[in-house]
Amino acid sequence: MKTAFVTGASAGFGAAICRQLIADGYRVIGGARRADKLAQLEQELGENFIPLTLDVTDPASLDAAVALIHDSSLPIDVLVNNAGLALGIERAQHADAQNWECMIATNITGLAMVTHKILPGMVAANAGLIINIGSIAGTYPYPGGNVYGASKAFVKQFSLNLRADLAGTRVRVTNIEPGLCSGTEFSMVRLGGNHEAVAALYKDVDAISPQDLANTVSWIAGQPDHVNINSLEIMPVAQTYSALSVARNL
Ligand SMILES: NC(=O)c1ccc[n+]([C@@H]2O[C@H](COP(=O)([O-])OP(=O)(O)OC[C@H]3O[C@@H](n4cnc5c(N)ncnc54)[C@H](OP(=O)(O)O)[C@@H]3O)[C@@H](O)[C@H]2O)c1
Repeated sequence: MKTAFVTGASAGFGAAICRQLIADGYRVIGGARRADKLAQLEQELGENFIPLTLDVTDPASLDAAVALIHDSSLPIDVLVNNAGLALGIERAQHADAQNWECMIATNITGLAMVTHKILPGMVAANAGLIINIGSIAGTYPYPGGNVYGASKAFVKQFSLNLRADLAGTRVRVTNIEPGLCSGTEFSMVRLGGNHEAVAALYKDVDAISPQDLANTVSWIAGQPDHVNINSLEIMPVAQTYSALSVARNL
């Protein structure tokens, strides 16, 4: 039985990915900070789900989590670097510095350090797949995207650079870049629990669902070992590009 390690397993994409990978026959180690949510998922999914309390921004928590993984002698076949968040939608000049620090710590440092812990085992086994959850925000700028989008641009380039470093090995790396998705806690977290603003964001929009994303992960993980999906951008049909803005009479 193959083992997957999914970060950010307590909600949204991460929980859906855990459900799907278990349905696909994997044993899944699911990491997140909220142990109660992971316990609920364990009840639902049974013994093939292994909950792991983990804060990717805390080196001690990460060391303890990785020690537990090593002790369990479960080689990680698939790592899904999904834990991440956006905080705030203010323009850069009005943004909260602590929000910026938290996004950098989680989306950049956390993702890089989880990878740093897991990658050597994959290289030693000359097998494995890392799926990073980036965002279209890493490619397309928008007002208020500032550090969040930049953190996802890091994920995009980090994924490509990993591929460069892994030349000559059979370890695979994919960056998934989702667009607007509903049914997760993402916007509630970003907008500080403002239910009305969240409802307005998703009003009358057929957005991507967590299951759509889980299906994508499942498809990537199901490709033959010689195939590497480098990146995959996925938007709802309802979302597309807009023109560059021009300010007149500045
Ligand atoms: N929803 C979207 O529209 C969208 C679009 C593009 C990309 N994404 C990306 O998709 C990923 C998942 O987002 P989502 O929509 O599923 O959001 P979500 O429902 O808020 O889930 C985020 C997950 O990350 C975990 N997490 C946050 N900080 C963490 C930390 N320091 N250590 C460990 N786990 C942490 C949370 O668990 P705990 O709070 O229990 O720790 C939660 O399980 C993120 O990387 C996000 O940037 C989302």
